[in-house]
Amino acid sequence: MNYTKHILITGGAGFIGSHLVRRLVQQYPDYQIVNLDKLTYAGNLENLRDIEAAQNYVFQKGDILDMELLEGLFSQYHIDAVIHLAAESHVDRSISNPMSFIETNIVGTVTLLNAARNAWKDNFADKLFYHVSTDEVYGTLGETGLFTEDTAYDPRSPYSASKASSDHLVRAYYHTYGLPVVLSNCSNNYGPFQFPEKLLPLMINNIRNNKALPVYGDGKYTRDWLWVEDHASAIDTVFHKGVIGETYNIGGNNEWKNIDLIHQLCDLMDGLLDRPKGASRELITFVKDRPGHDRRYAIDATKIKDALGWEPEVQAEEGLKKTAEWYLSNSEWMDNVTSGTYQKYYANQYNVQSN
Ligand code: NAD
Ligand code: DAU
Repeated sequence: MNYTKHILITGGAGFIGSHLVRRLVQQYPDYQIVNLDKLTYAGNLENLRDIEAAQNYVFQKGDILDMELLEGLFSQYHIDAVIHLAAESHVDRSISNPMSFIETNIVGTVTLLNAARNAWKDNFADKLFYHVSTDEVYGTLGETGLFTEDTAYDPRSPYSASKASSDHLVRAYYHTYGLPVVLSNCSNNYGPFQFPEKLLPLMINNIRNNKALPVYGDGKYTRDWLWVEDHASAIDTVFHKGVIGETYNIGGNNEWKNIDLIHQLCDLMDGLLDRPKGASRELITFVKDRPGHDRRYAIDATKIKDALGWEPEVQAEEGLKKTAEWYLSNSEWMDNVTSGTYQKYYANQYNVQSN
């Protein structure tokens, strides 16, 4: 098969990466998709079972810090585009263990930039290095205002500082070496296949098991939630239509205070689990706050809408219902990822006895 593009996706076995891989494999049979993933605790090939046999899909287990492996992949598969999602992604883990965030998110990104630069030498025509990043690089908002692409960087956790650093390095390779890059910074994603260390799947799993729902601080922290497949469609749009050297903010226009979102989820779960109304809300427990907890994130997504014509499609009510239903009907997936080391993580993070 003569593919028209050969795309290396890093972190494709994770939450967002698996949705992106599935989308590109299915929608572009003339593209070859090479998925490089280390399969850390957050990477899971179960997330890709339905497409693993596709002709235009290749999986490679490995680390983005492994230069020899990267060189081999660029050469073997004639890689002409990279979509880089591999990262350590959980803020709480970055607080207890910052080093793996520095290694993967910063050193790993530079290693990948070097591999792309070497492989493409100084002929960058028709090449693209797409770096997928987060709105957390902008820091925190007060009651009002939105993050635009011009908001100054002000990261406040080891995770967001490592992502900010990687963003700067990607831009530095554009300005210094002319490497063709594009970046996007997205708000909180939700949907199927998210590891249950993150708010929504953690709460769904705990409701299912009648366990306490740990709400940090006063619960009035605000996030802008985006249905994960809408993020995959935004990445597809930026990949095909984005202007080299530019950055696009991606968001859901969907702000929720944590406690309001959790209330909404509890009521939905009562219905789905056939429990008396209010039963799940009784599980809510306010716990010690996350250190340096950013108060509010909210994205101004005007640029990607006006310049590239992208807008989110799934509204909050529909997305939340689809999410809760997916985790309930995929309880085996949830049970698999919450056995073993997850128990230890949970016990340490929430200061409870492990099962
Ligand atoms: P995730 O933690 O679910 O997945 C990360 C994936 O990267 C895993 O499959 C893991 O095995 C892999 N990985 C980690 N270290 C690696 C390494 N050294 N080499 C190769 N693979 C490695 O993360 P996610 O939530 O899917 O996020 C994906 C990307 O999107 C990240 O860069 C994150 O910063 C960014 N992002 C996430 C969100 C969100 O709400 N989840 C929002 C905006 C941006
Ligand atoms: O904004 C984009 C970012 O969103 C991504 O870059 C990160 O990779 C992703 O993890 C996410 O970061 P957050 O820290 O916002 O997500 P998390 O799901 O960890 O927490 C969401 C909110 O819920 C936050 O205010 C903390 C709170 N929370 C979280 C957990 C896990 C709780 O109150 N209790 C919890 O147990």
